[in-house]
Amino acid sequence: MKIAFLGAGQVGGALAAALARAGHTVTIGARDAGSRSVRALLTRAPALSVAAPADAVRAADVVFLATPYNVAAEVVKELAGELAGKVLVDCTNPVGPGLTHGLRSERSGSEVVQAAAPRARVVKAFTIYGFENFEENPFRSAAVRPAMLFCGDDAAAKGSVAKLIEELGWEPVDVGGIAQALHLEHMTLLWIRMVRVGGHSPHTVWARLSGPQPK
Ligand SMILES: NC(=O)c1ccc[n+]([C@@H]2O[C@H](COP(=O)([O-])OP(=O)(O)OC[C@H]3O[C@@H](n4cnc5c(N)ncnc54)[C@H](OP(=O)(O)O)[C@@H]3O)[C@@H](O)[C@H]2O)c1
Repeated sequence: MKIAFLGAGQVGGALAAALARAGHTVTIGARDAGSRSVRALLTRAPALSVAAPADAVRAADVVFLATPYNVAAEVVKELAGELAGKVLVDCTNPVGPGLTHGLRSERSGSEVVQAAAPRARVVKAFTIYGFENFEENPFRSAAVRPAMLFCGDDAAAKGSVAKLIEELGWEPVDVGGIAQALHLEHMTLLWIRMVRVGGHSPHTVWARLSGPQPK
């Protein structure tokens, strides 16, 4: 699959390296090909290529958005034409002062991203854990697969993202439409507060135990 990244820092860099290792053609859409994050990434993952954001998006089947949240809508809006019809994996999280929801829980960040590129097929994924778990899934060989929760309104787009999630060693758990993004963003805040403040391991992830439907 051809995959582009907008944002190649802790999260984008880790996922780009992992997906390239899994055999995908990964291009970093960089505003500055010489930036620190891009140079650091190319040193550890030389198979990646770098292009201007519009070119990278145009050539991709799937685009990962991994910029800081405060610039995400602006970055996506500028590329809205190129993003039309593309699967857009929103990895961003709006985090506000005091580790609260950055949009006061009134609306999810993913819905803001979707509004900035109305014809993109937005799927929120790879947001509920820290970047430490993304380049090398620490539980790939565990007896219980760790879960990656994701959501979005486009079923085919979610199918493509579910395959990528699976390839990286996670159980893809589809939690519903884009309206669920707000609740995933709260799961993220829970994780951040537990790990970054409360001292839990950064390799804290969730697994799903799901029984049969009651008769
Ligand atoms: N950190 C985590 O554990 C974690 C986990 C899950 C989700 N997230 C979410 O993932 C996103 C990225 O987090 P991160 O920790 O990876 O951040 P980061 O390490 O600071 O990386 C941000 C990336 O975005 C690029 N960027 C910044 N401003 C930009 C702009 N105006 N236009 C285009 N690219 C721009 C940066 O490029 P330059 O090098 O050119 O500045 C860099 O490659 C955030 O929304 C965060 O909430 C973070």
